[in-house]
Order: sequence, then structure tokens, then C-alpha cells
Amino acid sequence: MARYLVTGGCGFIGSHLIERLIAAGNDVRVLDDLSTGRKDNLPSGVPLTVGDVADPDLVNDLMGGVDGCFHLAAVASVDRSREDWRGTNRTNLAGTITVFDAARRAAGGAPVPVVYASSAAVYGDNQNVPLVEAATVGPLSAYGADKLACELHARVADGVHGVPTTGFRFFNVFGPRQDPKSPYSGVISIFAARIARGEPITINGDGEQVRDFVYVRDLVRYLTAAMDKPVPGAPVYNVCTGVPTTVNRLAEVLADLAGRPLDRRHGPPRSGDIRVSIGDPSRLVAAFGMACGTSLEDGLRDTLAWL
Ligand code: NAD
Ligand code: UD1
Repeated sequence: MARYLVTGGCGFIGSHLIERLIAAGNDVRVLDDLSTGRKDNLPSGVPLTVGDVADPDLVNDLMGGVDGCFHLAAVASVDRSREDWRGTNRTNLAGTITVFDAARRAAGGAPVPVVYASSAAVYGDNQNVPLVEAATVGPLSAYGADKLACELHARVADGVHGVPTTGFRFFNVFGPRQDPKSPYSGVISIFAARIARGEPITINGDGEQVRDFVYVRDLVRYLTAAMDKPVPGAPVYNVCTGVPTTVNRLAEVLADLAGRPLDRRHGPPRSGDIRVSIGDPSRLVAAFGMACGTSLEDGLRDTLAWL
């Protein structure tokens, strides 16, 4: 049993991680400002501090005595990062440095490991798919730029301050508890909710854009495995399946699974939309000995069942 701080624990991915940590008998504390997360995403009894991840006193305090930190708190929306550039930077980059800095002396003055969320957004529209971790990065948004900067500061945390870090470049994550009501929500949660209610969906552009969809319960296994065996060198891994799915096909599979007719409309392409995003999971599988094994269909069934 270990004691962990989870930032962003009331969010979509954080809540699945906490479920897993608790089931394994760990002691968990959460820091979240509830900007997009929800208190009722947390299992009962998990202590929550409502506050800002970029507040150094608060983070230092919460980091005291933990064995490690899972850092997921972020403004997780590319659109939001366009609207609020400086505010996003404060949470996404300053918040991450605040976490690394506090981790330097968490265990009675000694460093503890940090496992943190990066994003496929660091690749920008690099079309050299499937994308390997060594591919050229070129973020197209403030969100992606900050995630890349987090990876650079993770190297500083490791090399200069002795804080072991592991970064995960999540591709398109989906599953239960991804809030379909949020304007920043992922395509699967939006389509699943609308199709299940028999409402029309809007496909941006021709729908032939491709994504690599990762089921959330597959993803959180890597986070805990990385915490269990931290390695030096601030490694970063894609979290992806390598399986391409077009937005059109996604809509068809969802309608099929929901047993509803598909009412699809095409809107204009989303400005700056990436055409093809597929990751190469080889490095992830080699390091952790497991692939993201849940099929899209099974993951979608779970998501529909949750609605
Ligand atoms: P989410 O919005 O559900 O979770 C983020 C959590 O962070 C929320 O609970 C929110 O309230 C909290 N938060 C935001 N700003 C904060 C602040 N200043 N202080 C404290 N808490 C704050 O999003 P998610 O999808 O669960 O994302 C988790 C992590 O994964 C994020 O770092 C995100 O950038 C990353 N990520 C997600 C995806 C995806 O497809 N969902 C893809 C790539 C990367
Ligand atoms: C997603 C993540 C982002 C992450 C990036 C990494 C979400 C909300 N965003 O962005 O955090 O950094 O992956 O690659 O998970 N679409 C429609 N109709 C809709 C909604 C979306 O056609 O109603 C289309 C979009 O135009 C896009 C695709 O579906 O082509 C996926 O969109 P979205 O789920 O928003 O994810 P990304 O933009 O890929």
C-alpha cells in the first residue's frame, strides 16, 4: 500500500485512475479546482482539496509524506487554450512545474516520482503516421505547446533535481464519465449521448479524418505501472492503439451498438482540425509488456451503458 497525490482526480481520466488505486488498497488524496471535474466522480471517502495546482504552498503541503504524484490537472481543451492563453499556461505549465518542484522534497526532503499527462497534441499535424515518440514535434496550439514544455521540464526535474518522471502522450481517450455536456468534450462522448437519445450528430467536414481512440481503463494501467517502477531519463510514451478509425465509421459503429438509426449531418471542417492522428504503441508495449487491448466496440458498449 502506498500514499499518492492525484491532481485533477475529479476529472474523467483521474476518476478512473483513483478507482484503480483504491481497488489496489492505496491511500489517495486529490487536488482539483472543480473547473471541469466533479466531486461525485470520486469514490466516497477520498479526501479532496479544492484548489489550484499552480499554488505552490498548497501543492507543497499536499505533497508532504506521499510516495508519488499522478499529475493530471490541466485545462484539457485545445479550444479553451485559444480563448484563455495565459490562464491555460498558468495551469498547464506553471502548474506542472509547481508539482515537479514540490516533488523534490515530498518525502521528508527526498524526491518522489511524478507520472504526468502529456498529449498527442505535441505532434501537431505531423502526418508521418503512425507517430513514434522520436517523430518531429510541432504543436499547433497553446495546449500542445504547454504539454511539450511540460516534457522539457520533466527532464529538468529528473536530471537537475532527481525527481523521477514518466510522461504519457495520450491520444484520443474515451470511456464512461467523459462529460458529454461539456462544449470541450471528445467526439465519442458527444456522439454517444446524442445517438442514444435519437438526436442528430454533426460531423465536422467530410468525416474521413482519422483518430486513434484509447479506452480509459486501458490507459490507467500504464499510469500505475509507471509509478511502480520509475526509471531515470524522464521517458515519454505514446498511449495509443495504432488502430485508425474515421469519424464516419465511429458514428456508424455507435449507431449500430445503440440500435438507433444514424441521423448524421455534415458541418464545415473544424478550423485547425488534424486530418490523421495515429500513434505507434511499440515503445509503450515494449516498456510495459501490455497493449491497449480493449476493442473500440467493447469500449463503446461500456460508454453507452454508462449514459
Ligand atoms: P478533465 O477536464 O476531465 O480533467 C482535468 C481535471 O483537472 C478536472 O477535474 C479539472 O477540474 C482539473 N483542473 C483543471 N485546472 C485545474 C487547476 N488549475 N487546479 C486544479 N485542478 C484543475 O480532462 P481529462 O480528459 O481527464 O484529462 C486529464 C489529463 O489528460 C489532462 O492533463 C489532459 O490534458 C490530458 N489529456 C487528455 C486527453 C483526452 O483525450 N481526454 C488527451 C490527451 C491528454
Ligand atoms: C483530442 C483531445 C485533446 C488531445 C488531442 C490529442 C478531446 C476533447 N480532445 O483532440 O485534448 O490533445 O486529442 O490528439 O478529447 N468531431 C466531429 N463532430 C463533433 C465533435 C468532433 O466531427 O461533434 C470531430 C473533430 O472535428 C475531430 C474528431 O471528431 O476531427 C475528434 O475530435 P475531438 O474528440 O474533439 O478530439 P481532437 O480534436 O482529436
